[in-house]
Amino acid sequence: MAQGSPQVKGLDTVLVLDFGAQYGQLIARRVRECRVYSELVPHDLPIARLKAYAPKGIILSGGPMSVYVDDAPQLDPEILNLGIPVLGICYGMQSLALHLGGTVARTDLSEFGKTALSVLEPGLLLEGLRGEEQAWMSHRDSVTKAPPGFDVLAASAASPVAAMEARSRGFYGVQFHPEVVHTPRGMDVLKNFLYKACGCAPEFTPASIIEESIKQIRAQVGDNKAILGLSGGVDSSVAALLMYKAIGERLTCVFVDQGMMRMREAERVVETFAGTFGIPLIAVDAADRFLDKLKDVTEPERKRKIIGEEFIRCFEEEARKLTDAKFLVQGTLYSDVIESGTRQAAKIKSHHNVGGLPEKMDFELVEPLRWLFKDEVRAVGEELGLPERIVWRQPFPGPGLAIRIIGAITRERVDVLQRADAIVQEEIRKAGLYRELWQCFAILPVIRSVGVQGDERTYGYPIAIRAVKSDDAMTADWAHLPYDLLETLSSRIINEVPEVNRVVYDISSKPPSTIEWE
Ligand code: XMP
Repeated sequence: MAQGSPQVKGLDTVLVLDFGAQYGQLIARRVRECRVYSELVPHDLPIARLKAYAPKGIILSGGPMSVYVDDAPQLDPEILNLGIPVLGICYGMQSLALHLGGTVARTDLSEFGKTALSVLEPGLLLEGLRGEEQAWMSHRDSVTKAPPGFDVLAASAASPVAAMEARSRGFYGVQFHPEVVHTPRGMDVLKNFLYKACGCAPEFTPASIIEESIKQIRAQVGDNKAILGLSGGVDSSVAALLMYKAIGERLTCVFVDQGMMRMREAERVVETFAGTFGIPLIAVDAADRFLDKLKDVTEPERKRKIIGEEFIRCFEEEARKLTDAKFLVQGTLYSDVIESGTRQAAKIKSHHNVGGLPEKMDFELVEPLRWLFKDEVRAVGEELGLPERIVWRQPFPGPGLAIRIIGAITRERVDVLQRADAIVQEEIRKAGLYRELWQCFAILPVIRSVGVQGDERTYGYPIAIRAVKSDDAMTADWAHLPYDLLETLSSRIINEVPEVNRVVYDISSKPPSTIEWE
């Protein structure tokens, strides 16, 4: 949960109180899409801490429980005495109704999915909606009687009170979920609450995020120096630019090239940061060192471990030279902050994030992205002039091509895969598919196969192509790439990479496969 995350001063803030909703994080994201800063906090956050945010509005999320079960999460009644507008969603509205003297009951009808909503009178909350609207519902209990003084704004077949408000007191409730796309006018409902009920200004923009971040970084770092491990991905890149804007040359970036990035990618990182942006950068060419350590290693987890450890060693060696740096910058995102400790996914592979850094170093942490979602990081990157290639880079595993070269890694095999992969990247971009794919890449299996080129028998490498669609890498579907594109990939790879005589396309989803081959 987001406890302890920095409070953003200077921006209107709306807090989402989490009652265990499936959609809690989504509500905060949607509020931010309305350009109002929002954080998800536990429903029982002590009032003093809640007040410290100086929120301009509070949203009570949905939740899986009935308000009547014993251990149902309770709404702290103090929240209703703060004089701040409150919007209850689903369970949140039921809690609100109960506290203010309404009636909540289990009716015979439950509603799950798309539901017809009749707008009775729009009031403030449903302004702009009229007649029949579609809304997404997911509930068994319903508010059967609104609390005294409330106007009933809408009803559905199973919800006599599907939306309600007591405008003069600043209390609002909806039984439906305005935050999901299946409620087409949901964003209008949220905007009515945020702008009209709470009086928030839509000021949470990339420019204001940059301005606030710089203030926060300066307040934390003071006159001290900081060190940042640059990986070439969007998070560490945006963190580097924000830090540089805030503390200038007192920032030093360290980029460890383990020799297993994509073709020309390491050069591009150096060109961009040291060249274009002029940021102090130490680039360590550690390719030989990594390849030595990985010699004859075929077991995937050992590869990961070796690369992770070697990375830390390289980084530490450089960090030690910067004796006066007090701070270490990390690219932690808000979704990591929310999820840390709450999700215990089974360990299938040890995701040794090579961007991750030593645990026992004598640094204080600066986490400039700690309050941002990934799409906000990208928007900030664009605003800061980061090249499209970095802003929209697909996820790339820390161990890089090492886990896409099955079996032992040699310089020659890295080189073959880099050339084949470069063709995949180029053609996918040319086809305009790069952004809609979660990842696309080439893999070099351990086998060889027979082919015939000219009149000669060849015994060469096959290359596998993997392209997947996914939202979060937990599950993934193989992408139905057009046949013409597959044909171009196959013929270009075989013609331009002489070591390769066969190309195959991976048509496995996750689960049961994984995205990477190792
Ligand atoms: P899998 O292969 O487990 O991958 O379906 C899920 C996502 O994680 C990435 N991945 C890694 N990232 N270090 C990383 O930083 C790793 O060792 C690693 N292994 C997999 C993978 O690219 C995909 O996005």
